Amino acid sequence: MTHLTAHSRELTAGAAAQPRRLRISPAIRAMVRETSLSAGDFIYPLFVTHGQRLKREVASMPGVFQWSPDLLAAEAESIARLGIPAVLLFGLPDHKDATGTESCAPDGAVQQAVTIIKKAVPEMVVITDVCLCEYTDHGHCGVLNTGGDLRPYPHLPEGYVLNAETLKILADVAVSHAEAGADIVAPSGMLDGMVRAIRAGLDARGFEHLAILSYSTKYASAFYGPFRDAAQGAPKFGDRRSHQMDPANAREALRETALDVAEGADMLMVKPALAYLDIIRMIRERFEALPLAAYNVSGEYAMIKAAAANGWLNEQQAVLETLTGIQRAGADLIITYHAKEAAQWLI
Ligand code: PBG
Repeated sequence: MTHLTAHSRELTAGAAAQPRRLRISPAIRAMVRETSLSAGDFIYPLFVTHGQRLKREVASMPGVFQWSPDLLAAEAESIARLGIPAVLLFGLPDHKDATGTESCAPDGAVQQAVTIIKKAVPEMVVITDVCLCEYTDHGHCGVLNTGGDLRPYPHLPEGYVLNAETLKILADVAVSHAEAGADIVAPSGMLDGMVRAIRAGLDARGFEHLAILSYSTKYASAFYGPFRDAAQGAPKFGDRRSHQMDPANAREALRETALDVAEGADMLMVKPALAYLDIIRMIRERFEALPLAAYNVSGEYAMIKAAAANGWLNEQQAVLETLTGIQRAGADLIITYHAKEAAQWLI
């Protein structure tokens, strides 16, 4: 303190509140840290495609790959070694059609991957995404009302995703994932009654014990762009605004979440994460009894990767700050493509 002038000492001495006292050393900072990220909070998404010995990088998501099921035993072992407890699987079919038939195939890419991962690493929590957009030839999340004047429901718009018709298929998809050995199913289509239909379908087939992680608050977001490359599930026309939420709405998230809880959701989700930290905080406070996941989506990942590749950001610091922010907002679990790298940085 000898370098301080008498005058500047006077200004700080005796001041009651000096927050910097608790920032003076790494040890003290660590002691008072309120949020501490760990690999155990992460869920790592994986894209699975048919084939053998395939590991194809996704152009808009450096470090993220489409995998053939056979390679996933070794990959699951490396994920588990990093302390990451769970994966979330997305499938790319060989064949797409109007109703996404391959989504329920016992030998579908996801179904094969589930079995392979559970055999290689039994303690890995395998979560499967339940949606039709990767499986339909039109890229929409369900069965469409199409046919012009001859469409089945003339009072509904052309191209409208039909709720009841789609729910029936989603329940079959969930059962087929359960039969393959999935631990948790995660419906992502934002259709009304989706959780109830899947719960009923699972229970009817003896899967009462299997949990549902609902994509309970999912916005119609531009940040899914790179994912649609990775999973080849971009809509061929139109958008998803008739089922996904309007980014302008917050109170509506309470309604969506309350419905999913009433229908039997075991875990909740907010997606995307970064433009929706207020929603994460709100759902955490209003639905405090249920575990809450936040999905740090493909576009959020791509932004950091692109900036880091240009030397515009320190990637490690930006990623850990981002994930800490999502946790601080109230997420118990973070679904993130950064999981493996972040886990290494946290060791
Ligand atoms: C739908 C689904 C999507 C994502 C997860 N599940 C895409 C969409 O709704 O269009 C996006 C995830 C991401 O961007 O990382 N099956």
